[in-house]
Amino acid sequence: MEKIPVLADVEAMARQAGTILAAGYEQQHQIDFKGEIDLVTEIDRRSEEFLVAEVFRLFPDHQVLAEEGGGSDGGARQWYIDPLDGTVNYAHGVPLFCVSIAYASHGVVQLAAVYEPLRDEMFLAERGCGSWLNGRRLAVATASELRNALLVTGFSYDIRSNRRNNLAEFAALATSCRGMRRLGSAALDLCYLAAGRLDGYWELSLKPWDLAAGALIALEAGARVTTLNGSDSLLVEPYSIVAANPALHRQLLAALSRPGMAAAPE
Ligand code: IPD
Ligand code: CA
Ligand code: CA
Repeated sequence: MEKIPVLADVEAMARQAGTILAAGYEQQHQIDFKGEIDLVTEIDRRSEEFLVAEVFRLFPDHQVLAEEGGGSDGGARQWYIDPLDGTVNYAHGVPLFCVSIAYASHGVVQLAAVYEPLRDEMFLAERGCGSWLNGRRLAVATASELRNALLVTGFSYDIRSNRRNNLAEFAALATSCRGMRRLGSAALDLCYLAAGRLDGYWELSLKPWDLAAGALIALEAGARVTTLNGSDSLLVEPYSIVAANPALHRQLLAALSRPGMAAAPE
């Protein structure tokens, strides 16, 4: 009989990879550059090696898409792995990073784990059942107006060369909300939103491993999570994301759709 992954499997994997991240934190790193400002450390690779081997040990016929090794997407039994989300923070000794793991069946993410080892915070979600932080059920915050909202966003590594680099959107929203943050980890942005710590999040261009787990965790905490076009299908290029409680999501999407903004009609 086919073995189907359960939440305890993704939790155990995330916890073990988190131990690898914590052990390497604040050590001297071997830093390689994937782009001008896009770093990778030996710890990203060590964590990924462990996670990919673990998925194939437990589920040999599944597919894995992981940040550092590639792999393939589109499988009926598909895993999305970010072995270290927040690499720039990690390499600079900023204590905000995590491991992010999602399992999708036929294109729909079913299970998610995001683990922040330094705070020992385990965010989990199972589609249709809810999301939890260390066993406590999560619910998004209720701020329904941008002016009362603490927002968070991020910028992709092509910020210098891509005209669609989120700076216009950042400037417009920073002057409409209560506060704006850039944490440096998309998975934690989504988990903190799920926990009600942050009210709204958007980003223009991510990768599937950045958002697959966090999006389910936010969704199961009551967030509306869409692309910039308002679509619920998140695992589609360019992997844009807008997440907030439903009332705030409407305002955020409307703000991002004004002339000159990324979601404006062409
Ligand atoms: C990055 C972080 C960041 C986001 C970038 C991602 P990495 O992932 O999630 O917050 O703004 O777009 O690439 O490189 O730290 O795994
Ligand atoms: Ca990432
Ligand atoms: Ca990463």
